[in-house]
Amino acid sequence: MASRRITLKDPSRFKDPAGLTWERYIALQARERERYLAEREALPADALSYTSVSPRYLERAIEQFANNFFPEQSATRYIATAAAHAPFEELKRCCLFQLADEQRHLEMDRDVFERAGIPERDWRPAWEQPGTTCRFFRHVLELEDPIEILVKANFVAEGAAGPGSFAVLADGAEARGDLLSAVNHRARVRDETRHISFARALVRALIEEDASNLDVIQRWQDESLQLFAEMAHGGRRREWWEGFLGSYYKIALPLGLRQTPIAL
Ligand SMILES: [Fe+2]
Ligand SMILES: [Fe+2]
Repeated sequence: MASRRITLKDPSRFKDPAGLTWERYIALQARERERYLAEREALPADALSYTSVSPRYLERAIEQFANNFFPEQSATRYIATAAAHAPFEELKRCCLFQLADEQRHLEMDRDVFERAGIPERDWRPAWEQPGTTCRFFRHVLELEDPIEILVKANFVAEGAAGPGSFAVLADGAEARGDLLSAVNHRARVRDETRHISFARALVRALIEEDASNLDVIQRWQDESLQLFAEMAHGGRRREWWEGFLGSYYKIALPLGLRQTPIAL
């Protein structure tokens, strides 16, 4: 996919919506970590050892665990690339804060796999099979342009996987006795919300600076959603997919983007 590069010529158009400095970020990150550890500590022992869920749940959940773990692992890598190539300091700082968040999410998901007793050799095959998020994240990992990475991964993918679909995942896990996954999803979404909002501020600034940037962003959205669509082929994960698109369009349509036509 040959891509046109766009960038923000006037960086003063972009402001980190969270207004974070290093000092404030480190305090926030420490607080989040403590809160997470306390929530995990409070879970019953059989939930932490995955003896409270049915064997059948675990069998099916491997794919979901992989769809949590590998996107977080990918995120630590693509956001590092975006930080390295960021065209201005304020954006670089947002990327570096996110890198630390994603690293923590990755640890939470490794913990789930390990506590559930799933051998590491089974993780990647579960992700590489058809119908997972693998194709999208592989694509993002090939990108070098920081703006394209942030639009596709933060604005589109996180914007879509934001509050709506993580709530579905958390509730679904909880209903099946997987309380640790529920705690993880609810912890992760507090950070993802910040990742989405700085990407949205970037997209808004790009469009305000040059209206023709909208066409490029639309194409990046279309490419991204097409790569995700295999998750929902044949009517699979219907509730999740609707939450996914719904979350995304709620932030994208007000900026002038159009829905992507997708045949499932
Ligand atoms: Fe994350
Ligand atoms: Fe994120």
